[in-house]
Amino acid sequence: MTAYSSAINLFDVTGIVAVVTGGGSGLGLFMTRALATNGAKKVYILGRRKHVLEQAVAEIGQDNVVPLQCDVTNQEALKSAVAFIEEDIGYINLLIANSGIAGPSGSVPPGSSITHVQEALFEISMQDFTNTFHVNCTAVFYTTIAFLGLLDKGNNNQSYRNGRSQVIATSSIGSFNRRITAGFAYGASKAATTMLLKVLATYLVPYRIRANILCPGLFPTDLTTDLIHGKDPTEEGAFPLDQIPAERAGTPEDIMGPLLYLASRAGAYCNGNCVLTDGGRLSVTPATY
Ligand SMILES: NC(=O)c1ccc[n+]([C@@H]2O[C@H](COP(=O)([O-])OP(=O)(O)OC[C@H]3O[C@@H](n4cnc5c(N)ncnc54)[C@H](OP(=O)(O)O)[C@@H]3O)[C@@H](O)[C@H]2O)c1
Repeated sequence: MTAYSSAINLFDVTGIVAVVTGGGSGLGLFMTRALATNGAKKVYILGRRKHVLEQAVAEIGQDNVVPLQCDVTNQEALKSAVAFIEEDIGYINLLIANSGIAGPSGSVPPGSSITHVQEALFEISMQDFTNTFHVNCTAVFYTTIAFLGLLDKGNNNQSYRNGRSQVIATSSIGSFNRRITAGFAYGASKAATTMLLKVLATYLVPYRIRANILCPGLFPTDLTTDLIHGKDPTEEGAFPLDQIPAERAGTPEDIMGPLLYLASRAGAYCNGNCVLTDGGRLSVTPATY
């Protein structure tokens, strides 16, 4: 019997100070809500659109959520966000590098001629392709580096005792999926992000900062509007077993649960870990996982 035997203690995030990039919408908003409504001291949500961040704060309705306008592809903007948080509270325990974009799709119907495939894929501009890596991977790296000092102070501060400071990136099962869903650039950029976080987990060992990866499957958000059609995708039966074994898309609980696990004492022994939450999708897809 330990103090942590009860689920309430084991998954407790009371007092945590977190930063969530892309925290104003979709999965970032679900994760922000999970932390904010479970006793987080502060959750700073970063994104480019001020009104989206402010709407998220109003929706959650708690004064522990702080909106900060910040483009994560801009080093100066990252430095300003860090400076604000340094002044406001002085440390963080958790950074969730969650911002991301779908990038160009270039989808072609199955059975298309090679000429059609070639035309459809070649017409994607290299800049659009590269920009997907820029937001999904490069910016995750610079966001992490920008917050290292505050994560270190989070370890020294000792106000949150449920695990050492950590970075969690929202990557994707796209990093393992050998079938194209969102696009070639998306999957490859997420594979790079997953690898980046593993490398960071090893690199940051001497600094006692952990790095873990969340790999969601399909969740209805702004990012996936183009991939989901028809009836409520989260209703069981919305997808065939051979596409998503759970037969549905993910719900807020399906990302909140894994996040609370990683952020609390329950996940404190995880470092360099990759948590899939995909309803079993990679089990029925050719994948490198
Ligand atoms: N939905 C899924 O099925 C799914 C599956 C696997 C992985 N994911 C990943 O989950 C993460 C969140 O996506 P989502 O599905 O929740 O879609 P979403 O609602 O579109 O969220 C994306 C967030 O990223 C922010 N963002 C984009 N570019 C940014 C930039 N340059 N600087 C700062 N913030 C930026 C957006 O805010 P602003 O536009 O206001 O900046 C937005 O809040 C992404 O990394 C995505 O790849 C999603």
